[in-house]
Amino acid sequence: MNTTELRPGIYAVGVVDWNVRSFHGYTTDRGATYNAYLIIDEKIALIDTVKEPFAQELLERIREIVDPEKIDYLISNHVEMDHSGAIPAVMAKATHAVIVTSAPSGYNGLKLHYGDSYEYMPVKAGDILSLGRHTLQFVPTPMLHWPDNMVTYCPEEKILFSNDAFGQHYSSSRRYDDEVDMAEVMAEAEKYYANILMPYGMQMKKTIPVIEGLDISLIAPSHGVMWRSHIGDIVNAYKHFSDDTPDHKAVVVFDSMWHSTEKMARAVLEGFAMKGVPVKLYDLKVDHISDIMTDVLKAEYVVVGSPTINNQMLPTVASFLCYMKGLAPKNKKAFAFGSYGWGGQSAGLVNDGLEACKFQIVMEPVKVQYIPSEAFLKELSEKVAALD
Ligand code: FEO
Repeated sequence: MNTTELRPGIYAVGVVDWNVRSFHGYTTDRGATYNAYLIIDEKIALIDTVKEPFAQELLERIREIVDPEKIDYLISNHVEMDHSGAIPAVMAKATHAVIVTSAPSGYNGLKLHYGDSYEYMPVKAGDILSLGRHTLQFVPTPMLHWPDNMVTYCPEEKILFSNDAFGQHYSSSRRYDDEVDMAEVMAEAEKYYANILMPYGMQMKKTIPVIEGLDISLIAPSHGVMWRSHIGDIVNAYKHFSDDTPDHKAVVVFDSMWHSTEKMARAVLEGFAMKGVPVKLYDLKVDHISDIMTDVLKAEYVVVGSPTINNQMLPTVASFLCYMKGLAPKNKKAFAFGSYGWGGQSAGLVNDGLEACKFQIVMEPVKVQYIPSEAFLKELSEKVAALD
């Protein structure tokens, strides 16, 4: 695939990872891209690199434009290895280049990944680097998605190189938002936010006004397509994602052994439907936790069920609760349910997991021995329908 010239002298030189299906445990059904950008000026700058296995592909793309030896600055907006993995390969060619990174977290993080033999230029908020006709301004965005993150703004071209922010795991031969299916891209942007940025909504809320204070005609993230025609849409979507007020919807998540907990899940589903609350049902045997979290992001209710097995909940449910706790969804109403043969610990354990997520428990754990009767299921639906 050819490089794309975004503006005179500014090129997209990153790579498409068409067939990757997992990004540290988050399913990437539409693949991914690791975007990098090259600016040719009196000084030459490369903004971010790519995953290490794609290093030679990155260098080949750079060579289509300029000899990598001529790179003066390697701007590292983020230490995570999907963006920094090719730093050693690039620096092996760009032997006089200086690595520009955030102070102190980027500087410390890169040294711990790649050693201290490179020349580093740690930068802080408001620092400006002149390349000649272009200048680069650095804006720290800590915890979006690691402590070291920053974004780089080029005011002359009104481009924000936003790294993880506004990214989507979406592989395409097209580069821009208006060249692809927006429904697909927005769905991937939401999944990306839910699984990567959700724990840092507070930081996002502080960052959005800073970004809105910049005059931007192109957002060039490090994953997925660039935003030129839907900048307002993606910024507004991020305001919605990071707003702690939930949407009026419910998510019911369960696993089951002999269908009793599944029957309970369907009764809970029916209750929300009776109540007029849009609801989705997820079976952990077939649905991936990263897809479920995309719906949990803005859900008002999160209801989770597991049967008891060997005095525990099912491991699939434990895994989901562990993943959800880490992503720290805010302002959820919740309750637990589950069937059992003897013992009957699972619903209580799931309830403990929901409490650990700091959710508001709106119903005591619902338990049934062996098989729920029709009357039990009807009563459960009615209790759900009567929830606040
Ligand atoms: Fe795309 Fe946090 O790395």
